[in-house]
Order: sequence, then C-alpha cells, then structure tokens
Amino acid sequence: MDYRQQVADAVADSINNQISTNDIYGKIEKPKTPENGDLAFPAFILAKELHKAPQMIAQDIVNNIDGSQFDKVVAVGPYVNFFLDKGKVSKQVMSDILTDKEHYGDNYDGKDQTVTIDMSSPNIAKPMSMGHLRSTVIGNSISEILKKNGYKTVKDNHLGDWGTQFGKLITAYLKWGNEDDVKRDPIHYLVQYYVKFHKEDQKDPELDEEAREWFKKLEDGDPEATKLWEWFRDVSLKAFNNTYKTLGVSFDTYNGESFYNDKMDEVVDILKKDGLLQESQGAQVVDLSDDNLNPALILKSDGASLYITRDIATALYRERTYHPVMNLYVVGSEQTNYFHQLKAVLKKMGVENADGVHHIPFGLITVNGKKLSTRRGNIILLNQVLDESIAMAKQQIAEKNPDLPNKDEVAKQVGVGAIIFGDLKSERINSIDFVLEDQLKFEGETGPYVQYAHARSESILRKSGKKELNESANELTDEGAWEVIKLLQAFPEVVKQARNEFEPSDVAKYSLRLAKAFNKYYAHSKILADDDEQDARLDLVKSVAIVLKESLRLLGIEAPDQM
Ligand code: ARG
Repeated sequence: MDYRQQVADAVADSINNQISTNDIYGKIEKPKTPENGDLAFPAFILAKELHKAPQMIAQDIVNNIDGSQFDKVVAVGPYVNFFLDKGKVSKQVMSDILTDKEHYGDNYDGKDQTVTIDMSSPNIAKPMSMGHLRSTVIGNSISEILKKNGYKTVKDNHLGDWGTQFGKLITAYLKWGNEDDVKRDPIHYLVQYYVKFHKEDQKDPELDEEAREWFKKLEDGDPEATKLWEWFRDVSLKAFNNTYKTLGVSFDTYNGESFYNDKMDEVVDILKKDGLLQESQGAQVVDLSDDNLNPALILKSDGASLYITRDIATALYRERTYHPVMNLYVVGSEQTNYFHQLKAVLKKMGVENADGVHHIPFGLITVNGKKLSTRRGNIILLNQVLDESIAMAKQQIAEKNPDLPNKDEVAKQVGVGAIIFGDLKSERINSIDFVLEDQLKFEGETGPYVQYAHARSESILRKSGKKELNESANELTDEGAWEVIKLLQAFPEVVKQARNEFEPSDVAKYSLRLAKAFNKYYAHSKILADDDEQDARLDLVKSVAIVLKESLRLLGIEAPDQM
C-alpha cells in the first residue's frame, strides 16, 4: 500500500482537485519528528494559486478533508500533518510480510535482463588481500540485491592469471624454487620467489629479459611454461576456494585473463579495421584525448598484450555470451581512471552495451591501521583475519551462551558475518579501518548486533509456543511498535534504492535501524503478556525476524536462530 498516494488523494479531494493528485504526490514530506505525524503536506506551495495565506490553506484542508482513513489530520502552521491509521497500516504491512515471507520486497523491474558482475578477481600466486575481500563481498551483495529486483546475474571471477608477471614467476621458480615447498605452502613460497625476483632484478637486468622470454613462450603455448603456469594456477585456486567457502560466496564463471589469450588477435583486428590503433614509440595505442584521458596502451613494442587488451576481449565476450543490460566491475577506486579508459575504448569500438559498463569503485581497507602490499612481502592475509574473527566469536559465545548446541557453526556465522557487515555498513566508496574487536561486539553498529536481534526474535517465538502464525495479521495499535511498523513498511523501497545506487550499505544501515527499533520496543513492552494484543505483537516479532533475516541474506550474511 502506498500511503503517500492515500494522503495525496485525500488532499486533492479536499481542494476539489484544483491541483492534481500527481503534483501533490511529489510534494508529500516525511516529518523529521514523530510528533508531526507520519506524512505531511506543505500547504504553502498552494499559496500562489489559491491566493491565500498558507496557514489558512492548511486549516481549510483539515476542515474539508475526509479524515476517516487516518488516525488524525492536523494543521500546524503552513503544514498539514497526517497520522496514519496504526491499526490498519500494521495489519496490512504485517499481513504482506507473513504472506510473502522471504519474498517480501521482491521487485520485478529486472525481469528477463542479465547483469554480469566482475568481482573478487585476485591474482594467481599471490595471496588474496583485504581489497579482494571487499570486491568479493560487495559484488556478492550487489548480485543478491539485483536478483531481489528481478535481474539474472552472472558472477565472474576475472582471475589475474596472465601477464608478464608470470614470466617473472617462472624465471624465479626455475632459479630458486623448490617443488616440495610449493606443494606444502604454495602461495607463501610463490610470493617469496616473486619478491626475490624484484630484489634481484635491480642488480641484474638480464633477469627481466629472461622473464620476458618466458612470458612469450607461455603466450605461444610452450609445454614447459604452460605446465608450470597451470600448476601455479591450480594451487592458487585451491587456496582461494577455501576462502570463498568460508565467506559463503560462489561464482558462475572463473574466466580469468588467460581465458582471453586466444581472443586478443580479434581485438587488435577490430581496432585496426576501425582505424583506432596508432603507433607510439613502437607500441600500439588508442588515442583518447577526446575523452580527456591518457592513451590506452594495447600492445607493447614486443607485441605483448596488456591488462586492457584482455579487458576489451572480456567485454566483447560478455556482450556476445550474455547480452547483459549492465556489465559491472567491482574494483577498488584506484582503478577508476583505468575503467574510464576501458569504457571509452569500448564506446569508440561501438560495442553495443558500452553504456552499460559501470565501474563500481570502493575505498581502501586497512586492518588495525596496517596497509596491505604484496611486493614488499608485508601483507595481512585475508584467511588470517577470518580465522581470527571466528576464534573471537567462539570465545564470546563460550562466555555468553555456553549451552548453545551448534557452537562451532554459529561462531563461524558470527565471525564471518562480523567481517562482511563491517565491510558493507558504510558507503562503499569510503575507506575503512578494520578493528576486529569492534566489529565483533554484540552492541553498536555491527553484524552480530543485527544477528542477535534476529536470534532474539526467534527466541521469543519459540517461547510463545506458537509454531505457525496466520498469514492474515492482527491490528497492532501500540504506540511503541509504530516505529518498527514504519521501518518494515519501508523495506521494499530500500531494496530498490540499493539497486539504483549499487549500494549494499543501504541495506546494512536499514538492518541496523530495524534491529535498533525492535530492541527498543522489546525493552519497553512485554511481548508475551496474555492480553488482546499478544497475537498482534507476535505477528510483529515474526515480521521483524523475516525482514532482518532477508536483509542479512542480501548482504551475504547468515542469521542463526540462536546465538
Ligand atoms: N586482478 C585485478 C587486481 O587484483 C583486478 C581485476 C578486475 N577486473 C577486471 N576486469 N579488470 O587488481
């Protein structure tokens, strides 16, 4: 039910449709304080047309309006304030939720449309960093939000598994590597070789030449180079998949950069045919000065392809394979310029959906104030952070709820949920510093706080002994519940807004508001009191449980029934 519409209709009626409902609709406001009602109409906007003082217009509207559908309609200065009918609204909202359950808020705008999401995309033979964590959880949540809005999504992990760095890695491995070490702890040792390469090549420029040759061999399909590369890729993927499993994130495809190795000649051909390639100091570039961007380097002077060459091939492949309405790249904001270049090249090439290419940037992440860098070997590993978080959650549960039957499972849900929520709760473009202890608190703006509100609502329902609630809810007129009802009613709007802005934080912030409002209600009301409104209060508790769980699901976080 659209209560704005209800108010707009009533106002239009009261002034004999001198102004259309549509015009009024857009002007309806939400008062800042609850004392001023739920919705308000600023009567002063009619002053010119009606040649009257705003206060008088407001008073006239109140005198003429059919107020029977509202609890109260009052004029305050130039405003008409509407107090919605709490009984009717609560019954309507809760019935919708109890009927639709987890489908409450589903929206079909995206029906029959596909969106590709380029996400996570760590680099082979390097550890997954906290930055890749951000891409993984933001991308995953955006995918859930899009699906809630009716779209089909293709989550593609564009692994960094190709490029000159593999020439370096092969060179380093053949010089200093040890097979058993790599088998024992692959990423740790591969990083060591890589770091060593960068130290040594300062003294010995020959190394760079060797590395270039190895990459060339790899591009040409040389068996030795290919075998080593495949091995590095294999062991790295195994490690990444462990992390994805812990995070509860899966992908539809893992088409890394190497997947496009045989699709790059076509890119170069098209660019040539369209007259877009120019020579610059032996290299091939696309001039982007029209777009105020630096030229895009397509081929190095030795003919080697680059990151952007592979990305152009990727965009073409996605276009042909999925015909997506949008092609999203969830990648840190440090690559913003790069994605401007990519989009500009695709537009010049006339790629059909170049306009649907969107970079979804996000800010830096530090942990306990520490930066992350692979080169210098000074890194914070995502796995370590996850393990630590789960261990801390375990300890908290052991103190708070020692009798919990499935302690380990819940500790994982809480520990992982804390990290995901900590990442998603502020606008993605913001940088975040992660202090694990803070994210794990059961109080404050945390994942465990929202999970706990959900578990509490489930526990009330268990205590009530009512297994199934009617789909048709009862009227709840209790003043204390009104804030909760209004938030529940707002959920479908939040689902759309998060989709429009590709912003999981809209959902995270909403879940915090709902959890907070519910906890406040719980603190002030006796829910399990045997009176006339008990059934209505249980309807509310169930509705809150459903919407909190669904909000967490949209963020990629589990909601245990007990914790
Ligand atoms: N592997 C890259 C990195 O770690 C991210 C790739 C992003 N996706 C893309 N299509 N360029 O920085």
